[in-house]
Amino acid sequence: MKKMESVRSDLPSLVTPLPGPKASAVIERDGAVVSPSYTRCYPLVAARGEGTIVEDIDGNRFLDFTAGIAVVATGHSHPKIVAAIQAQAERLIHMSGTDFYYENLVDLAEKLASLAPGGAPKRVYFGNSGTEAIEAAIKMTRYHSGRGQFIAFYGSFHGRTMGSLALTASKSIQQKEFFPVMAGAHHVPYPYCYRCAYGQTPDQCAVDCVKVIEEQLFRHKLPPEDTAAIFVEPVQGEGGYVVPPKKFFGELRRLADRHGILIVADEVQSGMGRTGRMFASQHFDLVPDVIAVAKGIASGLPLGATIARAEVMNWPPGAHASTFGGNPVANAAALATIELLEKELIDNAARVGEHLLNRLRDLPRRFRMVGDVRGLGLMIGIELVRDQETKERAPELRDRLEKMCFERGLLVLGAGPNSIRLSPPLVITKDQADFAADTIERCLGAI
Ligand SMILES: Cc1ncc(COP(=O)(O)O)c(C=O)c1O
Repeated sequence: MKKMESVRSDLPSLVTPLPGPKASAVIERDGAVVSPSYTRCYPLVAARGEGTIVEDIDGNRFLDFTAGIAVVATGHSHPKIVAAIQAQAERLIHMSGTDFYYENLVDLAEKLASLAPGGAPKRVYFGNSGTEAIEAAIKMTRYHSGRGQFIAFYGSFHGRTMGSLALTASKSIQQKEFFPVMAGAHHVPYPYCYRCAYGQTPDQCAVDCVKVIEEQLFRHKLPPEDTAAIFVEPVQGEGGYVVPPKKFFGELRRLADRHGILIVADEVQSGMGRTGRMFASQHFDLVPDVIAVAKGIASGLPLGATIARAEVMNWPPGAHASTFGGNPVANAAALATIELLEKELIDNAARVGEHLLNRLRDLPRRFRMVGDVRGLGLMIGIELVRDQETKERAPELRDRLEKMCFERGLLVLGAGPNSIRLSPPLVITKDQADFAADTIERCLGAI
């Protein structure tokens, strides 16, 4: 690897071969004691972070286009988030909001309830992660509806606990040897227009992705009156950063309303400003009955929230709770995060996201291994193929691109079998977006 030093503090600077000596030592110790189920795609050993820059343990600086898997919305260790965490930690670290009251739990619930789309009053349940936000939605929609079954989409990722895992249909390794997961989860194709399951083009599309639910699933297998909820990611995350057409959500809402089925929007990855709106649902005029959020909500502290119409969250005391959920320190971080999002970062995500997408949009014309580029705000996917005509997936090229970017100081992650996801912190500048686009172009040119 070439030594690369940039004098600019907002761009990468590599000062050792990768991994450096200290990183290699940590990776070796990790290999002996840490769960082998983790999937590390390159040897980054993070030591500190500031804004969009992550420094590794050997002093190499990287431009982070992963945000710790779409988590640090306000960037790494934003001073206002650090100050909010410190101030709260000095006052009260834990009390358990399920058994006692504290004010910032109410502050955050009020804030999230006011932000969620739709005019109806809302209530909020707090957990610690995305999967917990989904588990709460599973139990709540079952309780509310008295129905036991669910619909979700192929390619979706909703978490790894036994309920959310049943809804997840991303990679079969995630379910391998874990059968039986929760019963009653049924999957249909997601509106993935680049690879339409029905051979349609977006302009001819008659929203077969919704029709199939009525005409196949309900006819042959799943009684609609047994269906509690449809779980849907407004932009599919782990599945490859797939953006559906707007008409899909209108049709889905009509189908759900016809049968009294609830819609749960899993905004764990797409929410909290990432797409240039607070919730991705807002791009599609979707008013979900329930929204699950986590990841970006507290700039890196563990927090998940399930926001529902008050009428839907009608379970009684004792039905569901969590010792740590809605921890005061995480709540303080979330309130400070939301303030920054509303003040400037959602706008920045929309503005820089559009600039970045415009820079990348013509990659398929210039590089024959790029099949598709798509995205909303700072949630952008680049899909790699062996052949643009056949659209044969190229997972090995994707893995190579991911590694080549790392070797040039740019952190990106894969999504789906053959896509790269770009999900930088929302504080990213246009210059940094240009650096990332230039780096990706150079890597594609070198493949
Ligand atoms: C859309 C979506 N839902 C749920 C989850 C699960 O979140 P967690 O890993 O915090 O449990 C993820 C994680 O990637 C996700 O992207």
